[in-house]
Amino acid sequence: MKKENDPGRYTVTAALPYANGPLHIGHLAGVYVPADIYVRYLRSKGKEVAFICGSDEHGVPITLKARVEGISPQQVVDRYHTLIHKSFQELDISFDVYSRTSADIHHETSSSIFKSLHEKGKLMEKSGEQFYDNKAGQFLADRYITGTCPHCGHEKAFGDQCESCGTSLSPHDLINPVSRLSGEKPEKRNSTHWYLPLNEYEPWLREWILEGHQKDWKTNVYGQCKSWLDNGLNPRAVTRDLDWGVKVPLENARGKVLYVWFEAPIGYISATRELTRDWEKYWKDENTKLVHFIGKDNIVFHCIIFPAILKAEGSYILPENVPANEFLNLEGEKISTSRNWAVWLHEYLEDFPGKQDVLRYVLTANAPETKDNDFSWKDFQARNNNELVAIYGNFVNRTLVLTNKYYKGTVPAAGALSEDDKKVLDNVLNIPNTTGERIEKYHFREALQEMMKLARTGNKYLADNEPWKLIKTRPERVQTIMYVSLQIAAQLAHVSLPFLPLTSGKLQKMMNLTEKPWSQLNQNLPLKEGDQVNKATHLFEPIDDKAIEYQYEKLARVKKTNSDAEQQLEPAKEPVDFQDFTKLDLRVATVLEAKKVPKTGKLLELKIDTGLDQRTVVAGVAQSYTPEELTGKKVVAVTNLNPRKIKGIESKGMILMANNPEGKLVLVSPGEDALNGAIVS
Ligand code: 2FM
Ligand code: ZN
Repeated sequence: MKKENDPGRYTVTAALPYANGPLHIGHLAGVYVPADIYVRYLRSKGKEVAFICGSDEHGVPITLKARVEGISPQQVVDRYHTLIHKSFQELDISFDVYSRTSADIHHETSSSIFKSLHEKGKLMEKSGEQFYDNKAGQFLADRYITGTCPHCGHEKAFGDQCESCGTSLSPHDLINPVSRLSGEKPEKRNSTHWYLPLNEYEPWLREWILEGHQKDWKTNVYGQCKSWLDNGLNPRAVTRDLDWGVKVPLENARGKVLYVWFEAPIGYISATRELTRDWEKYWKDENTKLVHFIGKDNIVFHCIIFPAILKAEGSYILPENVPANEFLNLEGEKISTSRNWAVWLHEYLEDFPGKQDVLRYVLTANAPETKDNDFSWKDFQARNNNELVAIYGNFVNRTLVLTNKYYKGTVPAAGALSEDDKKVLDNVLNIPNTTGERIEKYHFREALQEMMKLARTGNKYLADNEPWKLIKTRPERVQTIMYVSLQIAAQLAHVSLPFLPLTSGKLQKMMNLTEKPWSQLNQNLPLKEGDQVNKATHLFEPIDDKAIEYQYEKLARVKKTNSDAEQQLEPAKEPVDFQDFTKLDLRVATVLEAKKVPKTGKLLELKIDTGLDQRTVVAGVAQSYTPEELTGKKVVAVTNLNPRKIKGIESKGMILMANNPEGKLVLVSPGEDALNGAIVS
């Protein structure tokens, strides 16, 4: 059934971030900021919205990370789920629920959908050969295996995808496959799996996407779907031989879990169930519009595989739109978690406290909506100083200061309106329409420009009319000028709400406004003669060169670490006597506390338990580990080095680290069961 154009209820999902690393600006620009703008706008229109997200906590990268660090996958996801959730809250992304796929409710929901498909005969059971690592004693699904990409020759392609050319792969496609666990060539063993026969859904998908959504889906999304469909769809395994994930809920499926890309999108449904008992209206009512905000690497899963699962199950609605963005680069280079080439949200929030809206603004103004785009700190500074401070903030400030000065904060009566005044006031009433139209088309950059047009109009209006020059000679005219300016500022407070929620709230408070439904913003001017406004406080402040240089220094350090790591190994050192070696007191220790050494970017101050005592050690690892990540870790410490003062802190020893292939320092780990104080020899 075709939906009405503007239904009353929306389910808006934002891609579930993997809980194996912190959030960076690429995630925000691609998914979370646009989704939040959209949702805030819908709520302001009076729509019933469920804004859904949570952590994606299964999949091979998480188990690999846990292995490297000598901790359990649950410990990995607990750490990042907490960090990610906190960062989202601080940025004020207004999810109605932020759940996680390790939650019981998700295990129940995804198992029951799998069971329902199984019972309805929608899955095929098939035995076949899978790669197996004899040494490690396990099957090698997805990223457990690496080899040469058959399409582009990249030598480090993974069993699910080549990150160089982006092609989706299966382990059998790889040339010279090697286990990432043991480095050995894997053998093949028989295993049974369940498959979704995607090929059977091809005719329906062609009709639904290629005929039904040619006009309303973004070109990049539609294009990727078309290319998948034109290449022909094949059955896809929806189970894996792994022990971390949602267990396959069948008798004969020991040691098998649901494929992460089968269950993760079901996480949206689980999270909605966590939000409300009345969840079915968000997933099963034809009058609900389902919209998935994702990054471009998730298109096939959200446009082809998940809809096929929902269609096969039969009782769910399908997405009306899947606005996927392209990627954001950083200073001209691809953002990379493993190479630490990113602006991490939790670090931004620490370095720029109170400036959440500035980041939202810059990421929206520069959003990679139709092509990959670039974030640079220079541009960040320029947009803050030249746009938010010099236009928006300056206009609002002057308007409120003058109103307080001339009229003790009371909105004056307007006299006769000039043609220009009328045009400006028409604009005030029209901007909510033009902004809203763009948001509804997922053109958030343009929508932001519309909002900023109002601020620019205000700034120009004041500059052209110069009330401060006329106040002595034409006080009546000044009343009209201030009346018009105040209307612009008040409308700006309302229209900023989806983009700059904190600023909009502050400005509304300054002007004694209450939130108004979006649909009423074009009806009447926001203020009346006699209304009272408060004193002005600054909405934005300039960002100085020092703050930006600090960010560039941080990036330069990352570059240096990466390039050092890429250089050849250092030559072997001179031989030493065993006696010399035994002079070093190497012991197992635990990191009890960790914190950043201010203004260094590189150093962490650690409190460690060496078994002998508790002591302070300063370590240059801040670019590899957050304080949270290090806390609780077992390390090897050199405990008999002479103390050294580093940045005014007395460091009593050092902890052993080594560079990994990405150039990041990783702990030399003695294993979780090693005792504090045990000698390492
Ligand atoms: O690409 C990613 O970050 C995935 N974790 C997105 C999953 S979205 C949904 F399907 F869960
Ligand atoms: Zn490739």
